[in-house]
Amino acid sequence: MKTEVISTVRREDAGTQLGAELIREGGLVAFPTETVYGLGANGMDGEAVNRIFEAKGRPNDNPLILHIAKKSDVKLLWAHVPKLANVLMDTFWPGPLTMIFNKADEVPYEVTAGLETVAVRMPSDKTARMLIQKAGVPIAAPSANRSGRPSPTTAEHVLADMDGRIPLILDGGPCKYGVESTVLSLVGEPTILRPGAVTREMLEAVIGPVKLAPSILNPLGEREVAASPGMKYKHYAPDAEVHVVEGEPKLAAKRIRTLCYAYESEGKRVAILGTEQTMPSYRNLNAYSLGDRDEPETLCANLFRLLRDVGSEVDVILAEGVDPKDTGLAFMNRLLRAAGFSHESV
Ligand code: TXA
Ligand code: MG
Repeated sequence: MKTEVISTVRREDAGTQLGAELIREGGLVAFPTETVYGLGANGMDGEAVNRIFEAKGRPNDNPLILHIAKKSDVKLLWAHVPKLANVLMDTFWPGPLTMIFNKADEVPYEVTAGLETVAVRMPSDKTARMLIQKAGVPIAAPSANRSGRPSPTTAEHVLADMDGRIPLILDGGPCKYGVESTVLSLVGEPTILRPGAVTREMLEAVIGPVKLAPSILNPLGEREVAASPGMKYKHYAPDAEVHVVEGEPKLAAKRIRTLCYAYESEGKRVAILGTEQTMPSYRNLNAYSLGDRDEPETLCANLFRLLRDVGSEVDVILAEGVDPKDTGLAFMNRLLRAAGFSHESV
């Protein structure tokens, strides 16, 4: 299969008519969102949804998110709309918040991986919204990477993973946030299953106490049942091995320099992912800045791109950790998983 790439940078609707037709016919289309690129199929067609799992190599017990273009469509997908959801939709939709609630009978089990709940989100990206509108169906879409790899934040990343496997990629340029949406379960007490750009602090300001799933910063215990099945799989792994050093920035940078020399003396190629604040400590080393520690959203925006691009050129990536507060929590959740939880504090 030949994979066509159509740029939507100048014209947001470019390729969305073709994309909508492909979706309606049961095919797959990769498209930009404000978080990461998605790999979409008709969310009401179980067979079409199965093609997503095939193209990604995704384990079929990991459920998908349904993407809608207007808020009221959530009524077709959930058994009913809980009160809390209304105020959350009004505050954060369209945008990077996914909500989970009991599914309506019409939602196929292929989407929910057999669960009685379904995840729904309304993206803010204009191309994404036009594609969904024109398709006239909710679009089931995971991140458009091969399973286990870092999520794609550019069309080039999607092409690297999906070339020849899907007919169409809509190229909207780099994604604004660079990490996937916040996943909030509204079944029982509101609980964040995956942190994102809509932070716990932002949610609590609107609905009061919100819990964090324990596995957000920790590997899942052997016998623990994953609240979100996606948590139990290897994630975001670049080609290189990743090790994270947390702690006061100057001390972390010092430790990273020491580790860098040690790896290099073993003949390994090393890259450092530092921050604006510590870049001067890495003069003459192969170092890249993730962004500004005081604005963790900048770290999120660059993380997956650097893991992919730098990861293909070196054996080892040494990365700085930051405080897991505000969007720093989303950053640390992805970084620690990319490292397979290889980390230390200084
Ligand atoms: O930003 C995003 O959310 C992107 C863009 C494309 O919208 N999509 C995305 O999808 O990240 P995916 O499939 O890579 O991640 C969905 C996460 C997985 O961890 C999955 O286990 C969880 O949401 N999830 C989906 N439905 C669920 C459900 N019913 N119960 C618990 N977890 C669920
Ligand atoms: Mg994913």
